[in-house]
Amino acid sequence: MCGIVAYIGPKDATPFLLEGLARLEYRGYDSAGVAVTGRTGGLKVRKVKGRVADLAAVVPARFKGTTGIGHTRWATHGVPSDANAHPHLDDAERIAVVHNGIIENADELRARLTEEGAVFRSETDTEVLAHLISAHATEGVELEEAVRAALGKVVGTYGIAVLDAEQPDRIVVARNGSPIVLGIGEKEMFAASDVSALVRYTRQVVHLEDGELATVRADGFRTFTEDARTTHRQPSTVDWDIDSYDTGGYEHFLLKEIHEQPGSVERTLSGRLDERFATAHLGGLNLDARELREIRRVKILGCGSAYYAGEMGAQLIEELSRIPAHSEPASEFRYRNPVIEADTLYVAVSQSGETYDTLAAVQEIKRKGGRVLGVVNTVGSAIARECDGGIYLHAGPEVSVASTKAFTSTVVAFALLALHFGRIHDLSPADGRRIVAGLRALPDQIREILAQSDGIAELAAEYAESEGMMFIGRVRGYPVAREGAQKLKEISYVHAEAYPASELKHGPLALISPELPTVALVPDDELLDKNLTTLGEIKARSGRVVAVAHRRPEAKLADHCILVPKSEPELDPLLLNIPLQLLAYHAAVALKRDVDRPRNLAKSVTVE
Ligand code: F6R
Repeated sequence: MCGIVAYIGPKDATPFLLEGLARLEYRGYDSAGVAVTGRTGGLKVRKVKGRVADLAAVVPARFKGTTGIGHTRWATHGVPSDANAHPHLDDAERIAVVHNGIIENADELRARLTEEGAVFRSETDTEVLAHLISAHATEGVELEEAVRAALGKVVGTYGIAVLDAEQPDRIVVARNGSPIVLGIGEKEMFAASDVSALVRYTRQVVHLEDGELATVRADGFRTFTEDARTTHRQPSTVDWDIDSYDTGGYEHFLLKEIHEQPGSVERTLSGRLDERFATAHLGGLNLDARELREIRRVKILGCGSAYYAGEMGAQLIEELSRIPAHSEPASEFRYRNPVIEADTLYVAVSQSGETYDTLAAVQEIKRKGGRVLGVVNTVGSAIARECDGGIYLHAGPEVSVASTKAFTSTVVAFALLALHFGRIHDLSPADGRRIVAGLRALPDQIREILAQSDGIAELAAEYAESEGMMFIGRVRGYPVAREGAQKLKEISYVHAEAYPASELKHGPLALISPELPTVALVPDDELLDKNLTTLGEIKARSGRVVAVAHRRPEAKLADHCILVPKSEPELDPLLLNIPLQLLAYHAAVALKRDVDRPRNLAKSVTVE
């Protein structure tokens, strides 16, 4: 959600800023802007409604400076427009600010600043920060002091970078609820809201904590708290590969990330399967077997696809360990004054580790004394740091807005957790071995499904113009249907609804017609006959059916069939989901959608 970049050093900042913004564009892309300054003083600013490419087109060759900040925006306060694009400036055009997050008391501050003579040029909450910092940046006051004083008056969440034309030897950044990472170079320094903007330039990074600020100069940085206490932060090394941030010959990041799944699943499993005891090793849980035995319930929290992955996780935990488990949207949980129980294990799921609703749910649980594990992809992210322990996915960076490989790895991580729980409880060694072997086989089975991409593309082209699509599945298949519908609507904008197959006759059957095709999950399991009956009911109402199945249903029950290899019944949902990713992708391509940057969305929603 919005991207920030900053540079200070001997070189011209502009190329880095534009390149960094292009890499962050997946976080927000309705407007973009840059500001630079240098020894000659004065601010140069360009900002436009549109993409980073639109910004680059209006940045002239003479737009140079050795200190600069940039922003790509996903609108929250005020429509996407040139005026609302960041950076925002004070009246004297001396201070420039880029900001991710929300200033909750912006109206009150704006009224006060207007009374004092400030003239506002945008509808954003961010502009308040520029005027407020400026009001504190009086003669002889260091920029960091002005920023600290201004933030003392602000209620809300922020990641900010601030430039002062009169102090061009520094940039001041601050974090409270929205990430800021410093990048350490050779006699140059970088900052960004996300490491993906930095990895081309440096692997040495420092993640700021909430409530922390930093003064960044070309030769180093100093971190400190909001009450001016110096903090001592050791840099860490980013191990993500620069190649992850290129499409690597694929047409889109999404397709690349779908195809990366055999490797990302292998990484999630790596070193965690124990053949001898037919269980999983999860070193990061920070809970021993005795503590785990005392857990009576598991509550999983996440948003969007992370929540659906949690539903698959809950199913796995209940089946393999017989511990009651349930998944709930973190965005709802945090607002309903949840009852926190000592014998419940809470699990927060997040690819980015920065989703604000999920973070707020974790904080609420911890405040009430609950125990939370994280299932997170991004190492060192806010949610990972807030949790008592957890499982890192090691899926690698996910750039496309729609989640695919992180989704799959999340479900694999839950399978490991469920196996571990199960073997501490009553899952037999034989069943444990069955699951271990099933997990080991997944990467090759995913490869088999990916090889069908062209056939699925033909199918997608045939169905893409439908007025909508129904996705149905029973029990294990229902979360798969929900994720399939989510993926399709997210990137193709085709309306899609997911229903438990068992519920069809209780209402939605009324919708079935040739214009509303159904994608049906039909695994070869104990519910096969029930699912086939449902297909018959749809066909009897002239509905068209695409079955995703282990065995081809009779021709009179399905118009098309995508065959997937059979795993263990508990793991089947993982494989049934892969063709749905390809279906959504190819439908979006057929409809000429902006696959990696779907309208109105952004990767990692770091605001409420
Ligand atoms: C769906 C999608 C979103 C995210 C959700 C949570 O494809 O990408 O629904 O899953 O916003 O994001 P994370 O996992 O980063 O917390």
